[in-house]
Amino acid sequence: MAIRIDDSKKLFTLQTKNTTYQMQVGKCDVLLHLYYGKKVENDNLDYLIKPCDRGFSGNPCEAGDERGYSLDTLPQEFSGYGTSDFRLNSVAVSGENGSLSADFRYVSHMILDKKHEIPAMPSLYDNGSEAQTLAVVLEDKAAKLRVTLYYSVFEELDVITRAADITYLGEQEAVISKAMSLCLDLPYGNYDMLHFYGRHAMERQLERTPLMHGTRAIGSKRGASSHHHNPFVILCEREASEDYGECYGAALVYSGNFTAEVEVDQVDQTRFVMGIGSEYFSWTLKKNEVFHMPEAVLSYTDKGFTALSHIFHRAFRHNLCRGDYKLKRRPILINNWEATYFDFNKDKLVEIAKTAAELGVEMLVMDDGWFGKRDNDVSGLGDWFVNEKKLGSTLKELVDEVNGQGLKFGIWFEPEMISEDSELYKEHPEWVLRVPNKLPDRSRFQLVLDMSRDDVRDYLFASISSVLDSANIEYIKWDMNRSMSDVYSNALPAEKQGEASHRYMLGLYDLLEKITSKYPHVLLEGCSGGGGRFDAGMLYYSPQIWCSDNTDAIERIKIQYGTSFAYPISSVGSHVSASPNHQTGRHTPLKTRGVVAMAGSFGYELDLSKMTEEEKVCVKEQIEDFKKYYDVIQDGNYYRLTNPFENHYFSAWQFVSEDRSKALFNIVVTHVEGNARAVHCKLKGLNETSLYRINDRIYTGSALMHAGFVVDKEWSDYPAEQYYIEEVEKR
Ligand code: GLA
Repeated sequence: MAIRIDDSKKLFTLQTKNTTYQMQVGKCDVLLHLYYGKKVENDNLDYLIKPCDRGFSGNPCEAGDERGYSLDTLPQEFSGYGTSDFRLNSVAVSGENGSLSADFRYVSHMILDKKHEIPAMPSLYDNGSEAQTLAVVLEDKAAKLRVTLYYSVFEELDVITRAADITYLGEQEAVISKAMSLCLDLPYGNYDMLHFYGRHAMERQLERTPLMHGTRAIGSKRGASSHHHNPFVILCEREASEDYGECYGAALVYSGNFTAEVEVDQVDQTRFVMGIGSEYFSWTLKKNEVFHMPEAVLSYTDKGFTALSHIFHRAFRHNLCRGDYKLKRRPILINNWEATYFDFNKDKLVEIAKTAAELGVEMLVMDDGWFGKRDNDVSGLGDWFVNEKKLGSTLKELVDEVNGQGLKFGIWFEPEMISEDSELYKEHPEWVLRVPNKLPDRSRFQLVLDMSRDDVRDYLFASISSVLDSANIEYIKWDMNRSMSDVYSNALPAEKQGEASHRYMLGLYDLLEKITSKYPHVLLEGCSGGGGRFDAGMLYYSPQIWCSDNTDAIERIKIQYGTSFAYPISSVGSHVSASPNHQTGRHTPLKTRGVVAMAGSFGYELDLSKMTEEEKVCVKEQIEDFKKYYDVIQDGNYYRLTNPFENHYFSAWQFVSEDRSKALFNIVVTHVEGNARAVHCKLKGLNETSLYRINDRIYTGSALMHAGFVVDKEWSDYPAEQYYIEEVEKR
């Protein structure tokens, strides 16, 4: 059983294959956190709690003369507010008397033999008897509030999810201004924090910092999870590395504003809270109304970051992504954006399709510019009807011709946005997020539609459906190209404006759910100016996300490196583009661009007609290679062999099949040196005793992993090599 309860000791133990999470109802019914870490068998870990009378750390009245029993120092599952716990709070709610105080105590619990689902929001799911849930009910009787904490335990995956909801039980109303999904107290140990910061075209750069006393916070108030910070954080012991050490990973299954905060307190305890961003947020509850927080996905391993990544990759691939393409190979696509930008018509696209088909590409994606009045980025968004004049044909004629070349057809939408220069804006200026009597801030010359409105979503559903129904469309790129400002909804009364951002997300999820259920065969690729909304929330609807608008192979190595800590390779949209690169001006060999793009859902984004015959042969080979290596790349385990922020000479990564019989080793020299050293790299994940073939030489697994592999070549600018490794004998 994944969940064990000892009623006499009021002890709750959650067990996964390799981890234990334990909590206990302590004195005064406080839900104490005892432990989360490596698996511990059949023990009551309450001895870990050592109450101690500390000055200025008060005590609940009910604790009587026990001056050591302080909420300020006890590890807890859901920290309150306005009590004597002065550390990070999990919640702030203003009740009927105006107090913000929140002091939740245990009331009851329940075990459910299934995964907890969150209404109207994405969350991990159970493929059949994989998860059990412990629901623990807490109440603040004075504030008339009930909190239910949900812990779903995926035993085999080594994953525990935590979600929570708040119910108001009073007669008037309560206003929530902070609601954190996760509260993880780590009473012992010194930790580093790993997080993934960035900017447009430079997402998910790894930063590792030791935690110090005080708080360290990251988050987004841009209306999307953002390019700037990612809702995935690792806390690890100071010595932890790829292959060694204790680490905790937490991902929020949410795509909007978020907060992740860590505090080290007066006695060196660490508290980590994560949830919906508290700025621009409030939520009003009337009697018996419930607010659902998004889910946090938690895992722990003592085997370092690679093992942690493998856990998240598996969970996201098998228990988060959905749809017909969840585990299927995605078509190798060519996207026309960097080939033509807005300047295309049917003939141009069919010409691209024709060359692409000859080379083995399987789908053409028509990007921005096919609808309304859209020859640049200042007009047309919202008018989701085909510009037949520009295309020179109907959509069906175009799609039929592309299909006739043997290619599937995909199409770009940016449903959440509107241009002021559009038919839609003329008809419905009130559909825009905009503060009354104030000019809104533009970004890329566009405004944001109010996705919380039913009429907006109905319009989008109808217009997207009518495009999809008009031709054989098998893929959608769902883009979102600005941060949200002026978040004010015309459909909400003044006192509910703090709900607009979260209602926007609920509206977006609702529309995505409708589209994906109506068109399950259509592959959805998420996008937000590249990877501005690359998060577990979006992966529930789109099994792949365009990783970055930066298609420079060398910069992509860093972006894909950071992305790989949480997100599986199959979720990373990655294309070979032109050289010199359009974002950086850098020249790189076609082979290198192919090797880097193959660490993802593979495709092309360049004008194939400008390629030499030699380059076309190279593309053909790349496509054949990708198909040949596909199983090991997408279904295998991913190993980061170097850290591109530390190793400036070369970058290497490896895919290894689950049974360790096949592997693909990739290296790119990122900085050529004069009189260069040989590139030497230790491989990972092989069977120690097996014999493996690389080209025409046989090596033992242990030699490749401990003595390493040497690539000794004459280098030129940014070369890459890819080695297929095959087990030839098991010993
Ligand atoms: C965003 C996307 C690009 C492209 C453009 C089109 O920037 O990330 O890939 O689709 O929009 O405007």
